[in-house]
Amino acid sequence: MANKPFLTDIKTLRERARKHIENGAVTEGYTADRETVVKLLNEALATELVCVLRYKRHYFMAAGINAESVAAEFLQHANEEQGHADQIAQRIVQLKGAPNFNPEGLLTRSHAEYVEGDTLTDMIKEVLVAERIAIDSYREMITYFGNDDPTSRRMLEGILAMEEEHAEDLVSLLEKMS
Ligand SMILES: [Fe+2]
Ligand SMILES: [Fe+2]
Repeated sequence: MANKPFLTDIKTLRERARKHIENGAVTEGYTADRETVVKLLNEALATELVCVLRYKRHYFMAAGINAESVAAEFLQHANEEQGHADQIAQRIVQLKGAPNFNPEGLLTRSHAEYVEGDTLTDMIKEVLVAERIAIDSYREMITYFGNDDPTSRRMLEGILAMEEEHAEDLVSLLEKMS
């Protein structure tokens, strides 16, 4: 190990940084498969956008049946999912990809489905199912990014933590209602 340096020497680092400066944040040290990362992040983006739509729909429907506290929770989650979508889109651009906001194929790209539900309980159950799908698929993406793209990994870890909170909130709502 003695003759194996931990870091690339400064001269090489500086030379590499000067080459291909148009690649911005994507340096030669970026070891992930960029195209796959962008594709996965676009699937996460679609998942978040479908979650925004589902929560918004539920927010207006719940408000219509005088379930104000549940409606407020739906609205808060909708806004947080929108924040996640923005974070993910920004990261895709940093990776020299293009965020896919095309409504055509949105549901196919999304990992979670769009199910409405008639009663308040059904609505909560459907968003809970969607959160649980997002939790599992983000966890897998995090494992895939590993040490090859720590920035995307950390971003998704933050988002995952919030999806877990969402799931927990929804379970509490269900318990209060029964
Ligand atoms: Fe989210
Ligand atoms: Fe969520």
